Amino acid sequence: MKSVGPVAIAVALAGLLACAAGLPAVTALDADVAGVPIAELQRGRDVYVAKCSGCHRLYSPAEYDDAAWDAHVHGMRDRAKLTDGDVAAIVAYVTAMNSARSPEVARRHTAPRMSPLPGATAGG
Ligand code: HEC
Repeated sequence: MKSVGPVAIAVALAGLLACAAGLPAVTALDADVAGVPIAELQRGRDVYVAKCSGCHRLYSPAEYDDAAWDAHVHGMRDRAKLTDGDVAAIVAYVTAMNSARSPEVARRHTAPRMSPLPGATAGG
């Protein structure tokens, strides 16, 4: 029988929050790979949810590559009344989270969040 510890509860809550907007939550790994401070990615996600959900669904970051996102966010700039900082933060978030830019992140996101056993290798 499995016990439900505080970590499991925290993970479940984080999952609920992430699902509320249907968008991937930012992790330290994403920030690391993108080379952007995690606070900036977090802000980008917040601004995206706040300013881009009024007229249509929130498109998943994975739906567009970096160039398309850049064009779309700039294209929506007036409609969403974005500041320069908003544009930069949203672009940083969606391009950090789209798997087109970072197959490595996508791969690690789908991998079990556990340390490998000591001595274990990927085998290939
Ligand atoms: C005031 C309404 C409004 C707001 C706010 C808005 N959009 Fe849009 N968006 C539209 C409309 C209308 C379309 C479809 C027509 C078009 O592409 O011009 C659209 C289309 C899109 C598309 C799809 C384009 C395509 O051709 O596939 C993306 C991506 C997008 N918006 C992103 C955003 C982002 C990111 C934000 C926030 C920065 C945002 N939108 C805010 C009205 C809005």
